[in-house]
Amino acid sequence: MIKQLAGRTAVVTGAASGIGLGLARKAATEGMHVVLADVEVDALADAEASVAELGAQALSAQTDVSKADAVDALADATFERFGGAHLVFLNAGVFQAGVSWQRSNADWEWVLGVNFWGALHGIRAFMPRLIEQDEPAHVVITASMAGLMTVAYSGPYVVSKFAASSLAECVAHDLRAQGVDHVGVSCLVPGSVDTRIADSTRNRPDEPPSEAQAPDHYFVADALREMTTTQGRSPEDVADMVFDAVRAGDFWIPTTDSYEELLRPRFDDILARKLPGSAQFD
Ligand SMILES: NC(=O)c1ccc[n+]([C@@H]2O[C@H](COP(=O)([O-])OP(=O)(O)OC[C@H]3O[C@@H](n4cnc5c(N)ncnc54)[C@H](O)[C@@H]3O)[C@@H](O)[C@H]2O)c1
Repeated sequence: MIKQLAGRTAVVTGAASGIGLGLARKAATEGMHVVLADVEVDALADAEASVAELGAQALSAQTDVSKADAVDALADATFERFGGAHLVFLNAGVFQAGVSWQRSNADWEWVLGVNFWGALHGIRAFMPRLIEQDEPAHVVITASMAGLMTVAYSGPYVVSKFAASSLAECVAHDLRAQGVDHVGVSCLVPGSVDTRIADSTRNRPDEPPSEAQAPDHYFVADALREMTTTQGRSPEDVADMVFDAVRAGDFWIPTTDSYEELLRPRFDDILARKLPGSAQFD
């Protein structure tokens, strides 16, 4: 279990905004060196400056996590600059809603590319080096409550987040099966957090569908924007919770007080051979 953070190195994907920026700033206040990776260049430069202002040595790397080569290059740059990595936050994510059969392949590929392949590329780029490094280290994959529960009108996002949460579980099992005890894994499953997640298409590389083409996506994104901005936790609170949970060695890191209340009925429904109720996260 990782205890010593000061002087060690944190890597954060999706570090230019929201939860990732909160994690990067928290790592800086813990005395860590911080590598910030994101696809949004101007916001990334601002994020690097805000982390450096906290006294951390910071390195920013424009990185599209959906590309394996880019994530390998991120790991190379991290080890070259700081000689190692100790907390790796595979956090970059985008939101794509809609009726499962109405969303295009491009919609599905974009959200799975960032939310699932981004996390997998991170595991493949960093995990062998963390094992080889032979120092305490920890990886946190950001999934979502939508990686534990299902809901209508959000198939693409929910499927990508179930993939991310099950990846975290499989990696944890593999580490245990291989007798690796100096590297840990956790899965962050936030409820609503006040970030720019509802405006994810700002970073989509191809043209997103218009509101006329995808009303099923836009009405859910509008509801998500309303919920995250009015009821969402702050990214700073979430970052505090994540660091406490990593220190405690927790696997699941929920951020909502109603975690148990939301999850218990799902497993009761599964045991009763029923479709689990559609979830209303908070
Ligand atoms: N905000 C919430 O309510 C909430 C709830 C559950 C889970 N999450 C998850 O938290 C994570 C962080 O999102 P957030 O809420 O802070 O949103 P955000 O939009 O504020 O931040 C996400 C960051 O990821 C970056 N990003 C997008 N595509 C990328 C790519 N291909 N490569 C690298 N970076 C990329 C964006 O530029 C942005 O800086 C995501 O995985 C999201 O799914 C958020």
